[in-house]
Amino acid sequence: MKRIGVLTSGGDAPGMNAAVRAVVRRGESLGMEVFGITNGFKGLVNGEIHRMTSSDVGGILNRGGTLLFSARYPEFKEKESQLVAKEQLKKHGIEGLVVIGGDGSFRGAQALSDHGFPSIGIPGTIDNDIAGTDYTLGFDTTLNTVVEAIDRIRDTAGSHGRVLVVEVMGRDAGDIAIWSGLSGGAESIIVPEAPYDLHEIVAGLKSGFSKGKNQGLIVLAEGVMSADELIEKINKIDDSFDIRGVVLGHIQRGGSPTVRDRVLGSSFGVKAVELLNEGASGECVAFVDEELTSNSFEDVFNTLKHSSNIHLYNINKYIN
Ligand code: ADP
Ligand code: F6P
Repeated sequence: MKRIGVLTSGGDAPGMNAAVRAVVRRGESLGMEVFGITNGFKGLVNGEIHRMTSSDVGGILNRGGTLLFSARYPEFKEKESQLVAKEQLKKHGIEGLVVIGGDGSFRGAQALSDHGFPSIGIPGTIDNDIAGTDYTLGFDTTLNTVVEAIDRIRDTAGSHGRVLVVEVMGRDAGDIAIWSGLSGGAESIIVPEAPYDLHEIVAGLKSGFSKGKNQGLIVLAEGVMSADELIEKINKIDDSFDIRGVVLGHIQRGGSPTVRDRVLGSSFGVKAVELLNEGASGECVAFVDEELTSNSFEDVFNTLKHSSNIHLYNINKYIN
């Protein structure tokens, strides 16, 4: 394989730049020419394709966001767009593609692979919701951002004897809430993967205050409900709390990647290029038990994201 392309798609995630850098540099070291595609599948369909060299990716390892830009482009679900994309790649002599993104982006990559165009995925999403990998790119940085915010919020909650509901991202997955809730000392964590009892949560908060706690923290995954909705429900059960909600929003997605995400991005990028070079397609790289590996898209789509993190949810219950 002499020419490969790389794009980032879906929500940006810290570490995407590290992965792009690794794709370009490993590609070059294998004697390939590497092309960057801007604005995800939208840019691919529109032919936004340019040559990238090692020097183009200098100084980006520590930068959040994605220098290739990203886009949500639902039109890519249609076969016509996919075939136009394939033609654009062929026009530039590109023989293989690395797609960095989440589940949706992998479906786009799988479609190209099904049309006979070699494509490999790199799991890049803060949500950690891709089956077959312990971690996705960006998850660790997001956790550190969220926990820093929670620490600050707790200072204020404790100074005022308040209950604070912190709504975090994750789409349908609760991993961000579980890890940040456990690290931030949340009295309760509410996630889509586990049943919750609001009466029990309220009783827990009351008992905490009666034992001398001066704050209550609930970390809520956005996939369950909004902070406002939760506060309304709690007030219906007991309106004696001084309760506030914080929606962390997009602050969770940006920022310089942590060491872990830089290492993960670099490793994923190298592995993806090596897979293409070996003739693989329809696969995505993964990190399992501290080892780099890969899975077929098919397996990823057919496996519900393991809730391996649910044991952390239980640990939090025992100690808060
Ligand atoms: P993520 O990749 O983070 O899950 P999205 O779900 O928004 O983010 O998907 C990113 C992009 O991937 C979409 O905007 C679209 O271009 C493409 N995509 C999503 N689903 C499909 C699909 N079923 N078939 C082809 N392309 C898809
Ligand atoms: O997939 C990443 C993510 O940040 C989710 O956690 C969130 O639900 C969604 O993207 C927000 O998307 P947007 O930035 O398009 O509003």
